[in-house]
Amino acid sequence: MEKAAQSYEKACILGIESSCDDTSAAVVSGGVLLSNVIATQTVHARYGGVIPELASRAHQQNIVPAVHEALRQASKAASDITAVAYTRGPGLIGSLMVGASFAKGLAVSLSVPLVEVNHLQAHILAHFITAPGGDGHKPSFPFICLLVSGGNSQIVLVRDYFDFEIMGQTIDDAAGEAFDKCAKALGGPYPGGPYVDKMARGGDSSMFRFAKPSVPGLDYSFSGLKTSFLYLLRDELKKDPDFISKHDKDLCASFQKAVIDCLMQKLSAAVKISGVRQVALAGGVSANSALRAALSSYCDEHGLEAFVPPVSYTTDNAAMVATAGYFKCLSGLFDELGSTPYAKTVM
Ligand code: KG4
Repeated sequence: MEKAAQSYEKACILGIESSCDDTSAAVVSGGVLLSNVIATQTVHARYGGVIPELASRAHQQNIVPAVHEALRQASKAASDITAVAYTRGPGLIGSLMVGASFAKGLAVSLSVPLVEVNHLQAHILAHFITAPGGDGHKPSFPFICLLVSGGNSQIVLVRDYFDFEIMGQTIDDAAGEAFDKCAKALGGPYPGGPYVDKMARGGDSSMFRFAKPSVPGLDYSFSGLKTSFLYLLRDELKKDPDFISKHDKDLCASFQKAVIDCLMQKLSAAVKISGVRQVALAGGVSANSALRAALSSYCDEHGLEAFVPPVSYTTDNAAMVATAGYFKCLSGLFDELGSTPYAKTVM
């Protein structure tokens, strides 16, 4: 292990992320991020959600240019790469297969080790991305991370780079999914989170109340909240066909508040149980301005330290994959060519 750590401290890692609808490539050299290229797939917007087959095809088109661009921006050649890290899962299986196949082919052709990365762990390890010229303010172990994305909502106790305990998670919809469905019902774009976030800023969050989920322990549920939102729209639209256009901002603000209240309630219970003093956010929904503000004020109030990632590292990106890959290399945790991608949520 020590030998591996020594020989990989200066490693140049190419990271590849292709779990959903963003094709991303990044270069981390000596632990420092040199480039992070994201090709966002716009083809899904007209369908109001990600179409898996279209995502796989777009990854195939985007992956080579994204890798070329990441190397160019990092001023590196393919021959400088000392390891290839890729997202093995969870995610859309066809999308994952494009990234995995490319990563394996490249690793074989360059005769360098392959490193598999768990997408959810990578979101958490985004807190350890080191930008050129600065170490930044990073959490120390153990800390709690609220991981909220389009496919997952989890409260994770992070004991070390690769030592995670899931304290609670959603039993149905993810928080991001709830935002996406709320936006869709209002006629907003996909993905819906940024739309709801923006609209909510001009709305009254106390205007509408929704059924609060009652799930025992630290688990979440967002499907009841979503149904309660849809029922409200259905009932009000019967009375006034212009209800949405009159109240879109208030609806967004009230729905957003309900989601954040749920997230923060369980998160604060987890903090109490674990006794940790540092709390972090990760995943696409951690870009939400009201959630970031809620975490900051909760931590200020309780004398805790809050960690929110830069917005550019909240949604899917390869910088977090290359960074996770770097720490795996230091620990000598390499992958085999025979490993297969996995769609299901595992940590
Ligand atoms: O982490 P991510 O890029 O992809 C997954 O791995 O799922 O997260 C995407 C999710 C989407 O559901 C999107 O609506 C949500 O993150 N999201 C937001 C915001 N920005 C992105 N949700 C709420 N507020 C935002 N500002």
